[in-house]
Amino acid sequence: MILELLEWAVTPCPWFARRNGLLAAQIGIRHRVKRCRATWNGHLEACRKFVADAVGSRTADENLVILGSGHLNDFDLAFLQRRFQKITLVDALHPIEIQIQASLSRGRLRLITTDLSSPTAEIEDLVSRSSWTISSCLLSQLPLFSNEDSPALFDRHLALLQKSPRAVLISDVAKRLGSAPWESLIENHPLPHPAAEWSWLISPPGESVPDPEERLVQACLMHSDPSDS
Ligand SMILES: C[S@@+](CC[C@H](N)C(=O)[O-])C[C@H]1O[C@@H](n2cnc3c(N)ncnc32)[C@H](O)[C@@H]1O
Repeated sequence: MILELLEWAVTPCPWFARRNGLLAAQIGIRHRVKRCRATWNGHLEACRKFVADAVGSRTADENLVILGSGHLNDFDLAFLQRRFQKITLVDALHPIEIQIQASLSRGRLRLITTDLSSPTAEIEDLVSRSSWTISSCLLSQLPLFSNEDSPALFDRHLALLQKSPRAVLISDVAKRLGSAPWESLIENHPLPHPAAEWSWLISPPGESVPDPEERLVQACLMHSDPSDS
């Protein structure tokens, strides 16, 4: 707890991310990943594999944009750095260790700090010029830190991904507590057809509530050129 408070105080980040709880949530994820490693590993591996299969391993002079990059838990950064010439990480705030890694990367890992609930023209331009864009475990989070209607936030995020020549969208779309029925996390908002789907035990029994909490995760491929699939 003391370490978490210290990290909250020293992490350089915009005021809005400190005030609306994004910084506290991101620090919380770092500790939760460690506590729940056994039940999170399958989900994190599934995300990494989906991305690796989508982008392929052939090294090319291409660039990648990752939206909601956070701690990069669900990415194999070493693999992506071999595959892509340049990677831009976009988040409302970047954990200290990612800021240090970027500063040592000789420009190959670039950070942009911005609120993705309302993408700026700079972000739209970046995404439309990137070879690939990946949004992983961000979509369902957008309403948590915004006062805007969820459908508008989801539409805007999907429209942003559609600007990219090739994109991957991974998101938890529903949750269930214990044996209760699945409950949509995205108000049943229509998404592209998922190419893969898995369940993720996000809260094993006793983690935050007595009942275990499971998430249904979907992964989609989006191509601006339909012949490119
Ligand atoms: C569940 S985390 C997933 C992070 C990352 N994929 C990982 O593996 O650690 C969601 C991320 O989205 C970011 N995020 C949430 N809402 C955002 C917003 N409105 N603008 C930019 N980033 C946001 C959070 O800061 C966090 O890093």
